Amino acid sequence: MLKELQLFLSLVLLIACGFLYRLTQRSPCLFCLPPFKSPRGPEDLLSDGRSIVFIETSERLEPPPLVSCAVESAAKIYPNLPIAFFMKGLSNASQLAPDPSHPAFSLLSALHNVFFFPLDMKRLFEDTPLFSWYTKVNSSTERYWLHVSSDACRLAIIWKFGGIYLDTDVISIRPIPQENFLAAQASRHSSNGVFGFLPHHPFLWGCMENFVEHYNSHIWGNQGPHLMTRMLRVWCRLGDFQDLGDLKCLNMSFLHPKRFYPIPYPEWRRYYEVWDTEPSFNDSYALHLWNYMNQGKRTVVRGSNTLVENLYRKHCPRTYRNLIQSPEESATREPGPGTR
Ligand SMILES: *[C@@H]1O[C@H](CO)[C@@H](O)[C@H](O)[C@H]1NC(C)=O
Ligand SMILES: *[C@@H]1O[C@H](CO)[C@@H](O)[C@H](O)[C@H]1NC(C)=O
Ligand SMILES: *[C@@H]1O[C@H](CO)[C@@H](O)[C@H](O)[C@H]1NC(C)=O
Ligand SMILES: *[C@@H]1O[C@H](CO)[C@@H](O)[C@H](O)[C@H]1NC(C)=O
Repeated sequence: MLKELQLFLSLVLLIACGFLYRLTQRSPCLFCLPPFKSPRGPEDLLSDGRSIVFIETSERLEPPPLVSCAVESAAKIYPNLPIAFFMKGLSNASQLAPDPSHPAFSLLSALHNVFFFPLDMKRLFEDTPLFSWYTKVNSSTERYWLHVSSDACRLAIIWKFGGIYLDTDVISIRPIPQENFLAAQASRHSSNGVFGFLPHHPFLWGCMENFVEHYNSHIWGNQGPHLMTRMLRVWCRLGDFQDLGDLKCLNMSFLHPKRFYPIPYPEWRRYYEVWDTEPSFNDSYALHLWNYMNQGKRTVVRGSNTLVENLYRKHCPRTYRNLIQSPEESATREPGPGTR
């Protein structure tokens, strides 16, 4: 009798455990943050051609605060689109384990529409004009490899999947309404820090061909903004911008510098200053913070009331809450790794 009761109780316990296990599997997991929320690959997730794409070509896995802010702000502005972050460092399966020393990586992984993918360049460049270049180039002798490889990856990803590419120092503040567009840095000068196209757009195919034909690794930007500008001149006869209007050419838009560069690069320090009256940026979709100029020298400090602090507070509140320190804290803690 006692034995039967024991057996019965063990059975009940087993069932209860099984039930509890399934429950925890379904509930949002507090202590583990799987970097891949979905078993689907990028082909599947990005197939509807309307994703937002970020790229990290260094081996770095933990995003600095500005990168975290860029991704979080995009996730906030485009809640119904997948935000795909392609990271070179994720090609290493051994680095996939969740790690509490990666607060920004964990913060972004927890956002419902942010997805991380390994950046496998060889596979990405297959079936594109870039493949021949990639198989010949020796990355260890390239002076600007991180930039040049990033320039190539963004062309191939947006050509293959479509969507909007954003640099990791761009804070999104409202949705970009155009589907095929380039962003002007100035009249007749395109950037390649922000652009968007439907999948398989011939303009990007032309860019990839031009990339290979006119490859010059010694000139900074030759495969980046200069390439976009060269191609734009081949495709379109553009005049200067008049007032605040965007320009149209075939089925592409060339967006006014105010849309992404309301503060031009010689004035990048303005982002790190306190303003009497802050600009409303209501003619802008996103703000490029010129991190290449900054090189991580100026940071966001809690309580400083700088323009950039207020932008973080509004557009990437989680990053602001979790990653931005007050002066007292940053004096006692190690500063974060510099951004590139
Ligand atoms: C994995 O990471 C290590 C250390 O960062 C690096 O030396 C190695 O090349 C990486 N392996 C791959 C396949 O990327
Ligand atoms: C790339 O360049 C480095 C440095 O010059 C050299 O040691 C290496 O052998 C080269 N690799 C290939 C595959 O040519
Ligand atoms: C417009 O864009 C589509 C891609 O969506 C492309 O196939 C087509 O050729 C473009 N039209 C022109 C006139 O460039
Ligand atoms: C632009 O910003 C100003 C000042 O904040 C505001 O008064 C105005 O209504 C805004 N315009 C638009 C179109 O949002």
